[in-house]
Amino acid sequence: MSPFLEIKSISKSFGGVAALKNVSFDIGAGEAVALMGGNGAGKSTLVSLLAGLQRPDSGGIVIDGAEQDFAKPQDARASGIETVFQNLALCPNLNAPGNLFLGRELYRGRAPFRFLDRKAMERATVATLRDLGVNVPDMKAAANKFSGGQRQALAFARAARAKSRLLILDEPTAALGVEESANVIRTVQRLRRERNMTVLLITHNLEEMRAIADRAVILRRGRYVGSVRLDETSDDEIVGRITGSLAVREEVA
Ligand SMILES: Nc1ncnc2c1ncn2[C@@H]1O[C@H](COP(=O)(O)OP(=O)(O)OP(=O)(O)O)[C@@H](O)[C@H]1O
Ligand SMILES: [Mg+2]
Repeated sequence: MSPFLEIKSISKSFGGVAALKNVSFDIGAGEAVALMGGNGAGKSTLVSLLAGLQRPDSGGIVIDGAEQDFAKPQDARASGIETVFQNLALCPNLNAPGNLFLGRELYRGRAPFRFLDRKAMERATVATLRDLGVNVPDMKAAANKFSGGQRQALAFARAARAKSRLLILDEPTAALGVEESANVIRTVQRLRRERNMTVLLITHNLEEMRAIADRAVILRRGRYVGSVRLDETSDDEIVGRITGSLAVREEVA
């Protein structure tokens, strides 16, 4: 059986900077993989390729054995990939329900008497945010009035609601409080349990990595360093691989 997602020898440069150099790894269906690496290792660049924001210079993305060519974010979405970006992509002039249901609006009635069902979207937004323990005081307020944490929680809520197959989370709790972070982690665990969701998580927090992921893939300066099962690997070893203080066989190959 082929893995759900195959990243095949992907390279991406920005001017003279090689953000990714021949990176290859797989993710199995239902697996949760933490993508680990220091600042500038290439993690968000890989996310942008998987989300259809830009194209790799070379190499490929394969889903269920089929080669993908994402020209725009909708293409990645159509292939079942939902992403929460490190730099939040909310629409600043839309309110919470507007953001949560962007591109997936609820309607009532039948054409030609079809109307946006604002009440239903508002109710669903209140319920979703309550589940996450996030307090958005005003459903009518535009997202540019939200705090960084409220924005991040809303971006997560939007991705968690989409019935995607692969959920990519780029530092999803970086702006969140302790309680809100715990709620996000619990929600990801539930999505895995109930929907067998495949997850690619980026975090600098080792506890969060262990709470969510089964395996860690490590990047250093744009290169694939290795993959380790978390139940048989210590934090020290992971940190050593991230920083390069531990010699790693794969790197030589
Ligand atoms: N649009 C861009 N233009 C120019 N350089 C870029 C661009 N995006 C990323 N880079 C460069 O590519 C490298 C990898 O960046 P990337 O954002 O992928 O790192 P990261 O692993 O996500 O780091 P962090 O943990 O800090 O978020 C960095 O050197 C960065 O400066
Ligand atoms: Mg990043």
